[in-house]
Amino acid sequence: MTSLLVTNIGELVSWDDERPVIGNAAVVIEYGHVAWIGDRTAAPDADAVRDVGGVAVVPGFVDSHTHLVFAGDRAAEFEARMAGRPYEAGGIRTTVSATRAATDEQLAANVARHVSAMRAQGTTTVEIKSGYGLTVRDEARSLAIARQATEETTFLGAHVVPDGTDQAAYVDLVTGPMLEACAPHARWIDVFCEEGAFGVDEARTVLQAGVAAGLQPRVHANQLGPGPGVRLAAEVGAASADHCTYLDDADVAALSDSGVVAGLLPGVEFSTRSPYPDARRLIDSGVTVALATDCNPGSSYTSSMPFCIAVAVREMGMTPLEALWSATRGGAFALRRDDVGHLSVGAKADLVVLDAPTHVHLAYRPGVPLAVPLTR
Ligand code: NIG
Ligand code: FE
Repeated sequence: MTSLLVTNIGELVSWDDERPVIGNAAVVIEYGHVAWIGDRTAAPDADAVRDVGGVAVVPGFVDSHTHLVFAGDRAAEFEARMAGRPYEAGGIRTTVSATRAATDEQLAANVARHVSAMRAQGTTTVEIKSGYGLTVRDEARSLAIARQATEETTFLGAHVVPDGTDQAAYVDLVTGPMLEACAPHARWIDVFCEEGAFGVDEARTVLQAGVAAGLQPRVHANQLGPGPGVRLAAEVGAASADHCTYLDDADVAALSDSGVVAGLLPGVEFSTRSPYPDARRLIDSGVTVALATDCNPGSSYTSSMPFCIAVAVREMGMTPLEALWSATRGGAFALRRDDVGHLSVGAKADLVVLDAPTHVHLAYRPGVPLAVPLTR
């Protein structure tokens, strides 16, 4: 079979420039790409036809920020936080010990399990970071394992300084031998620019070394408090500044002036009882916003983009349509991808079928498994 007509789509969200949302629509797929979209009544013939029964079809979610290469969990930490303990970046070291002790096979099986859970909830593109190895060997194998699951791999050797290591010596390691071993397996370089992790000068050094090695920068910024991370992201031309929980006016202006995408990660605020980032303020200031899960065992152990959409609508001032855009097209912008996150002609045919008449149900029915990729 070479072409498939998907028809009787009650609401098609394609993000096409002309008609971003089309009622009573159809899509023709050829060789894995979108070949035609439009009114159902005008659809061309195809080799096969699939009638979806009047439900909504949206682009597959683009989860632009995850940390899936890890072993163990930190449920006890979560339980303590829910009883009032604050989130501490130092918890990362607990996962580092468990990850180092795991075999390649165990880590790869964990990644595969999470990616498959994501897919079952409508995620069709995922970025995966290293950052729980923090030795040359463990970071390189983390990235090699991530690469088995996605092209969108990010070297995050600069996550925290491992126990018993001098900070400056560790930055030298990350920007030297570790980068050399990791760059072949990575597309992106990331750094946790935050008090208790890496200062702005160290973060700049890490990002510049990554860029010199052919990687593109992105930053963990302004998660635990106000700081220079977002402005550093703008300075180095990062694809995204992720978290953006604590922003002042200069940070918002830096994002809108530079075009750096603000990657908002509502699972983190949910799981750490932190204030949610103000998506409304960012959108109204002209900032491009992406939504992602940040799936990791410490600050946000969810692999569900629909959950993030629901929280973004309920708590962050986004409309359901804005939240869906940020979870699809916005995520694609954060990864500098034009072939995913939308369903215009020429895009990858990553169609997600909702068991619902409109996209609004993604936020309106939180926790209900409505989004499933179309199988062909
Ligand atoms: O994105 N902020 C730094 N890294 C992760 C948390 C990792 C952890 O707590 O294990 C994050 O939230
Ligand atoms: Fe993260």
